[in-house]
Amino acid sequence: MKKTWDIEKFKATARKAAAEGIVLLKNDNKALPLEKGTKVAVFGRSQMNYYKSGTGSGGMVNVDYVVGIYEALADSGLYKVNDKVRGAYEKFVEENPFDHGAGWAAEPWFQKEMPLTDALVKEAAKESEAAVFIIGRTAGEDQDNKNEQGSYLLTDEETAALKKVTKAFDRTIVLLNVGNIIDMKWVKEIGPQAVAYVWQGGQEGGNAVLDVLSGKVNPSGKLSDTIAENIGDYASTENFGSDKKNYQKEDIYVGYRYFETFAKDKVLYPFGFGLSYTSFDIAPGEFDYDKKDGISLEVHVANTGDVAGKEVVQVYVKAPQGKIGKASRTLIGFDKTDLLAAGQSQNIRFEIPKYWFASYDDSGLTGHKSAYVLEEGVYTVFAGSDVRSAQEVGIFTIDKTEVVKQCEEAYAPVESFERLKPVDKKGVLTEGTEKVPTRTLDPNKKRAERLPKASLYKFTGDKGYKLKDVEAGKVSLEAFISQLSDEDLCAIVRGEGMCSPKVTPGVAGAYGGVTDKLLGFGIPIASCADGPSGIRMDCGTHAFSLPNGTCLACTFDEKINKELFTWEALDLRRHKIDALLGPGMNIHRSPLNGRNFEYFSEDPFLTGKLVAAQLQGLHTYDVTGVIKHFAGNTQEFKRHTVNNIVSERALREIYLKGFELAVREGNARALMSTYGPMNGLWTASSYDLLTTLLRDEWGFDGIVMTDWWAMGNDEANAPGSYQNVAAQVRAQNDLNMVNASAEANSNHDNLEEALKEGKLLRCELARNAGNILRFLLKTPAYQHMLGKESALDKELEAAVSAEDMALQEMIDVLADKDITELDPKDIKMEKNATTVFVLTAPRKCTMDFELVLRADNQPEVAQLPLTIFQDKMFLGTFTLTGMDKEWQTIKVSLFPAFIGNFYLKLFCPNGGLEIKSARLIKTKDLEEEFKRGITEL
Ligand code: BGC
Repeated sequence: MKKTWDIEKFKATARKAAAEGIVLLKNDNKALPLEKGTKVAVFGRSQMNYYKSGTGSGGMVNVDYVVGIYEALADSGLYKVNDKVRGAYEKFVEENPFDHGAGWAAEPWFQKEMPLTDALVKEAAKESEAAVFIIGRTAGEDQDNKNEQGSYLLTDEETAALKKVTKAFDRTIVLLNVGNIIDMKWVKEIGPQAVAYVWQGGQEGGNAVLDVLSGKVNPSGKLSDTIAENIGDYASTENFGSDKKNYQKEDIYVGYRYFETFAKDKVLYPFGFGLSYTSFDIAPGEFDYDKKDGISLEVHVANTGDVAGKEVVQVYVKAPQGKIGKASRTLIGFDKTDLLAAGQSQNIRFEIPKYWFASYDDSGLTGHKSAYVLEEGVYTVFAGSDVRSAQEVGIFTIDKTEVVKQCEEAYAPVESFERLKPVDKKGVLTEGTEKVPTRTLDPNKKRAERLPKASLYKFTGDKGYKLKDVEAGKVSLEAFISQLSDEDLCAIVRGEGMCSPKVTPGVAGAYGGVTDKLLGFGIPIASCADGPSGIRMDCGTHAFSLPNGTCLACTFDEKINKELFTWEALDLRRHKIDALLGPGMNIHRSPLNGRNFEYFSEDPFLTGKLVAAQLQGLHTYDVTGVIKHFAGNTQEFKRHTVNNIVSERALREIYLKGFELAVREGNARALMSTYGPMNGLWTASSYDLLTTLLRDEWGFDGIVMTDWWAMGNDEANAPGSYQNVAAQVRAQNDLNMVNASAEANSNHDNLEEALKEGKLLRCELARNAGNILRFLLKTPAYQHMLGKESALDKELEAAVSAEDMALQEMIDVLADKDITELDPKDIKMEKNATTVFVLTAPRKCTMDFELVLRADNQPEVAQLPLTIFQDKMFLGTFTLTGMDKEWQTIKVSLFPAFIGNFYLKLFCPNGGLEIKSARLIKTKDLEEEFKRGITEL
């Protein structure tokens, strides 16, 4: 029988995707590719620690292996790799081991570089013909980059080492193993022959680099961000990184939209730029503008060089400045050619609907407030291989300003500020400002006027309907929901996690049938796992790690993104996970955002199209992505509270546009709101964001979940609180993530209280329950609950390794009493045995773990250790000897159970111990301390 799951094909696809994302910025004298047999010396400390990913939740995939760049080069058999140079780094690393930092978000951005002696470099240059110099960087969740050495800037040690190597070798190739663009001024100053961004390429990343270096793959990646000369040149820099308010004064002029309009000369490498080993000619073909259908365009691409390659064609529009001002270039189409042999050519067609290049008038200056408009004037369309070199391919005129779509004002700022607006000074656009229009429609009023019909959801009590009766058309969804009590409805909007014992071990969340009663109605419990670059399972289960978001963005290729995520869908199915917490699709507003590696680009169109392709891939096998973070997470610093103040136009044209594409074209089924507020309202409680825009305007009918422990507030600039889940429900944020126990309301949310006070209505909870249930009906979890196991399920189950299966063997313990006894028989005491308990503590508390044990029947000299871990944290090793024939008591304090679920792992390397009792003793109730504070804006 033909198999669907094929790990080798998955690897090959990931390798191909990572290679297609590599961006070659410089290649003087054909420094690349490296011919077979070339003698290569590999420099740079990062050869010892390839970054497959950035840090935080987006990078925590446990993998079978990672192929680094050095390993790929050395093992390829293609090159003679200089052993002496490698040996020097190996020795250096023995003395300067990898610094992981301690705890969450503490891994440093870089690892200490090895100083190079003149002698080493000189000798290497004699022995080797080419030098490869690897520079590595990381950053991530809760850790932004900084405009400092070791982060955005090279360190003095890196600069010195790179200078030495470049001077000594005729051919120095610099590879940037980074999640995000960094300062590039050094290229000119130091002058290596070749420079490439190889990004963080996942577990096959090193192989992808090998393919490009060897010429097996001709690079076709393009920058998804503009690289400017200085960080201060980005219009966002001035208002990035505040702890309270970020005024997005640059408005829609993010990235190339700013540079192409106002500051072309500040750009080192333009958006969309990337070299190939061959050359291409992009020539205009047919062009047509049709009032109804928009732009239709053909472009003729010819490979004019001497090796095969692929080219990306990018289409931009320059709209007239009109009354509201426009960026000089806006990306409205892109496509990658097939692999074209030397001399071969291909025609590429683009059909571009007007809606995707209309501008949003939030001020009414065009006479059409809250509408997408095409202002009168001349529109020029460009096509090319980057934003700067794209040539005019068509032109059309709009005689009279046209409304493309009338909308309703939504999520506008409540305070005004000055935003950037072009001013035409004798044909040159210069930076002027205008006042940002403020909110005129109150979202609370909209909510009150548009409530779901209460009569549809009157409580009926249990009528015996199960969820499958809804699917079978025997009963309406509303009638089914009407059976649920208020309590059930409160429970269903509480997602559980992390590491809930009710779903695949180690994943972030569980939702749906979170109580026995809900399960009794035939509601399945579904799961979700981080994301985005592969599955994170904190109990240690392995999964496949993908190239990171920025790398995938630089492929500018929808096909490869879809294909890769079709494999990812199978990995999710293999581990019985219904949704991946990703793709991450926030805009790279600033190169300093720590999570840029998870996100795609400074451009929303590129982001949205590629995410839509990834979602289509996931949907092939009925799983999905929870696209995040909706919306406006542009920095990590103070992300729970920093208020992003942004115009409605910038929101719609920049920060929401990608999401809109993912909904409209990728049929997104699930979104995650952000931790923080925008325009004074926490996104999780923004009715305008989650209802007016997302559902009413874009037609989304899936679920929205909060980020893990997120706040809500009742009105703009009101304080935010973790307990204000009622505000989230009202906005149509369906799931509050995450609770240790939905039934026990372990997070002390205000749902019941708000219902009683009339601040939240049963019909609102019921409507959200409907969203959740419709989603669940599409999940594999639902099929499994019905006992339907397909041939694919069976095949995938067999594809989980025995080691991974063993990791999933856990004993569930509900630690809800003052003393919770564990069954000593559950603890395996044979040699090399591991026992894992997954503990759920519905009340926040501190606990001790106490064991009574002895070493009977052992020779007196026997050493009998037992090691205890809480999650990945080592708590202690206790060694008894053969002389401990009497019962001994050992005790360790567990860390406060704030998170609710955690693992207690016991490892017995030698065996020989006997256990009499094992128990958890509550030492302090932390409920009062837990009642988390309210945050003022
Ligand atoms: C992150 C999310 C992630 C979630 C679950 C949060 O801290 O912001 O992106 O999906 O944790 O791990």
